[in-house]
Amino acid sequence: MNVTPWDVSGEIDYEKLIREFGTQPLTQDLLNELEKRAKKPLPTVLRREFFFSHRDLKRALEKGFFVYTGRGPSGKMHLGHLPPFFLAKWLQDAFDVNVYIMLSDDEKYVHKRDLSWDEIDNFSLDNAKDIAALGFNPDKTFIFRDTEYIKNMYKGVLTLARKITFSTAKAVFGFTNETNIGLIFYPAIQIAPTFFEEKVSLIPAGIDQDPYWRIQRDIAPSLGYEKIAAIHSKFFPSLKGFSTKMSASKPETVIWLDEDEKSLKKKIMNAFSGGQPTIEEHRKKGGNPDIDIPYLLLYYFFEEDDNKIKEIEAKYRSGELLTGELKLYAFEKIKEFLKKHRENKEKVNLDKFMYSGKLAKRMWELDLNLSGRK
Ligand code: TYM
Repeated sequence: MNVTPWDVSGEIDYEKLIREFGTQPLTQDLLNELEKRAKKPLPTVLRREFFFSHRDLKRALEKGFFVYTGRGPSGKMHLGHLPPFFLAKWLQDAFDVNVYIMLSDDEKYVHKRDLSWDEIDNFSLDNAKDIAALGFNPDKTFIFRDTEYIKNMYKGVLTLARKITFSTAKAVFGFTNETNIGLIFYPAIQIAPTFFEEKVSLIPAGIDQDPYWRIQRDIAPSLGYEKIAAIHSKFFPSLKGFSTKMSASKPETVIWLDEDEKSLKKKIMNAFSGGQPTIEEHRKKGGNPDIDIPYLLLYYFFEEDDNKIKEIEAKYRSGELLTGELKLYAFEKIKEFLKKHRENKEKVNLDKFMYSGKLAKRMWELDLNLSGRK
């Protein structure tokens, strides 16, 4: 398996990732502690362990935190991009905290050689609308594009850049002599927002983003700032099977946020299933929900009701519920979600999130200058 911010491939072994990345498993005790302090019940992505690993979550809860996450606008968004934003929104509602969302248009420009600035600019605004449509509070959320906001954080970025050697960046990200220097400098930019507030920055993200946080945790104390805390998600499964991720570069593995009903139905009906090849066999042996993509989509994201999901699981295992029936149920749920999402997206006032909301206004007055510290 290979897991870096720019490439996730092979069969993903999550326990091995925890060991190799040196993170901690997200235990039931810690989830109980989170729930005790929160103003809302835990969302399915936590209750059902889609987020599986963390760094320093307890410290963030004890000291107080703000939320930071982001998106690289290299294309339209799909369902796989949403879990960190689901969790960011839940944290905002449950703890009444600010959320900062970076659109790393600079990263995508230097990484994807076939993309033009016009394309990236369009994706940035379209992605920002998709994210805002999830229901963030416009007065407590700041969505910013790096190329536009860089002026306000460049001094801070340079303060960080001076502390990160090429040899560290090479070791952490696997840069080679062929890597362009834009990508080599970029880590200082992705790290900078972890210093937007003096509290702990709590980062919900896929575990592929963890290398940045390792560097942040090395240098934060020398600047007199808090080390980040992170909650890491698994990869949203490909429609073709759980061991690989939903990936924009393979459209057959993906459900787009603007997927139309007809192609959504086709994709769900063709998704990898844990059912038996014939109805007779299925009735006799039952299905296997543990590897069944439509079931897993319901389990992690789209069936909130704990009793209902247990009932679906039991009926599927016993063979009472057929694969086609399970797929149709998943299709209906996801169709509803996407329909509502599109309606919400229509209503988004992006100006509030990017420029004129309370937090956005404050951020456009900020000059991030970390060198004033140690
Ligand atoms: P990007 O755009 O590749 O992905 C956005 C977020 O979605 C997660 N992700 C996934 N999670 C589960 N399953 C998948 N199939 C899947 N694909 C993507 C990513 O881990 C990420 O959390 N460099 C970042 C943008 C960024 C950022 C940040 C991310 C800038 N600052 C701070 C997290 C926190 C990127 O290109 O993400």
